Amino acid sequence: MKDKLLTVAKNHAPCYLYEYEVMAQQVKTLQGTFPNFDLLYSVKANPYPPVVKALASFGIGADAASAGEVVLARDCGMWAEDIFFSAAGKSDAALQRAWDDCEIIADSLGEVSRIGTLAAQRGEHRAIGIRMNPTFAFGGGAGVTSKFGIDEEDLPHLKELLKTIPVTVEGLHVHLRSQTLEADALGRCYQDSWALAKRLGEELGAPLRYVNFGSGVGVAYDEEQESPMDLEKLRTYTDAIAAENETTLRARLMIETGRFLTCKMGTYWLPVVDKKTSRGVTYVITEGCMNGLQKPALAVMLHHADPAGTLAAYEPLYTSAWAFPVVAHGDTTATERVNIVGNLCCAADVLVENFEGPRLEVGDLVEVQNAGAYACTLTAQRFSGHTPPVELLLDGEGNIME
Ligand SMILES: Cc1ncc(COP(=O)(O)O)c(C=O)c1O
Repeated sequence: MKDKLLTVAKNHAPCYLYEYEVMAQQVKTLQGTFPNFDLLYSVKANPYPPVVKALASFGIGADAASAGEVVLARDCGMWAEDIFFSAAGKSDAALQRAWDDCEIIADSLGEVSRIGTLAAQRGEHRAIGIRMNPTFAFGGGAGVTSKFGIDEEDLPHLKELLKTIPVTVEGLHVHLRSQTLEADALGRCYQDSWALAKRLGEELGAPLRYVNFGSGVGVAYDEEQESPMDLEKLRTYTDAIAAENETTLRARLMIETGRFLTCKMGTYWLPVVDKKTSRGVTYVITEGCMNGLQKPALAVMLHHADPAGTLAAYEPLYTSAWAFPVVAHGDTTATERVNIVGNLCCAADVLVENFEGPRLEVGDLVEVQNAGAYACTLTAQRFSGHTPPVELLLDGEGNIME
């Protein structure tokens, strides 16, 4: 497959290439691990329509973070009942745009109230879910302040509010952590969320129709640096929840994920457009560097601030120093130490410094791995008026899929 990718990349770079087969394998792994849970795809990780369409064809729904993502998910073939619009700060315009195309997950008491006003104006009764900021924290301890969700302590206010508006709460969404590799910590968070779901149903006087346990299942960006999550261990928690659900809530159980499904399928390819040496340092200049994939430049900046590399992840902007391995497709008979940079008029436009690998010349390609999630979409592509990179989804033969 590598040869096929290289051939496509030669014709399209700067480009993102997404391998369908890799994504399909990730889907299979998760569906196999959580047979009693529905999967939602966090569209923000990679909203490229052929990717969303492919995931829809596996029966996966959407965790949509904006009205635009709701519409995209619908356009890509997902059903309204499988699209969950959960985001802080939804405007009335966003709520109205998404109204008939999704389940709405309210994120604040103010939003619940505004949904009530909109429902009354429409002469409707609206069922919603709520995102909760629980009294527990990920990894143990008491709940923390957050811009996301309704504090669990505010449940009495919610109950009072619901008496005055044509709205019922039928679902719960909890999401406390992305990108963890600790199965026990995530499993305990799911357990706590399950207990919260039962409490919430009792408080509100009716069992919940759905419970979304949020994301968390992480990706080992570099298996020499970190071990993949033990999914079998996590499954012991989810199987226990599912078994209890059978005899109690009988709710629809869901887990959402963006990165696990898409990160590994993506590679980003940059063409070398110039090369020069300045006072002993060799610069390989590429096209579509910081303005094609921004996160490596942020990692370089952070490395200058913290050479010891002790900084914690700051998702989705910064994952780790090793999150984006670089491969130079140059002359393998000669090795060179270079700085691979971009062609923007700013010094921050760096892919990697002190890179040692095959000698690169103009026309060669540089590949960046793990570029399927929070990559193309999380990049300031309009900066400096360059042409944005192309995205392509490829089947196992290297053919472009629509
Ligand atoms: C509420 C919510 N759900 C899901 C995700 C997706 O996380 P990941 O792509 O790591 O699975 C995020 C990411 O920030 C999130 O905030």
